Amino acid sequence: MIEKSVVLIKPDGVERNIIGNILSCYEDNGLKIVALKLMKATREIAEKHYSQHKGKDFYEELITFITRNPLCAVIIQGEDAVARIRSINGATSPTDAAEGTIRHRYARSKTENCVHASDTVESAKEEIALWFPEVENN
Ligand code: CMP
Repeated sequence: MIEKSVVLIKPDGVERNIIGNILSCYEDNGLKIVALKLMKATREIAEKHYSQHKGKDFYEELITFITRNPLCAVIIQGEDAVARIRSINGATSPTDAAEGTIRHRYARSKTENCVHASDTVESAKEEIALWFPEVENN
């Protein structure tokens, strides 16, 4: 199935000038970037994006981090894109992430882990609506 997924290159990735390196990981795997923009997340959009984590001990740190500087929001499309992108990203924590994954190479902590990706096709649809309201989403 051809799927779309939302990838956020988080503020740590933008600050460290590794947007290109990270995007290459997806493109080199045959995935296609179909929308891309740099934007500073407002607290409102960050809270909507991470609503399932509200109340967890890391929530405030996560919201402060994701809103501190611009991030790069991307829609990536391809065969089985959701699962493939999660595999390319690696586990949440850099200490658990497999060698060769983005988080193994670049992440510094569970919070500053460089990338977010949609976890299902349904959440990708919601995240496209949230981050790319200007993009047709069907
Ligand atoms: P992300 O894929 O953006 O989705 C939720 C984020 O919460 C996750 O990446 C991590 O950055 C962050 N996160 C998850 N678990 C923890 C944790 N135990 N401590 C700090 N941050 C976490």
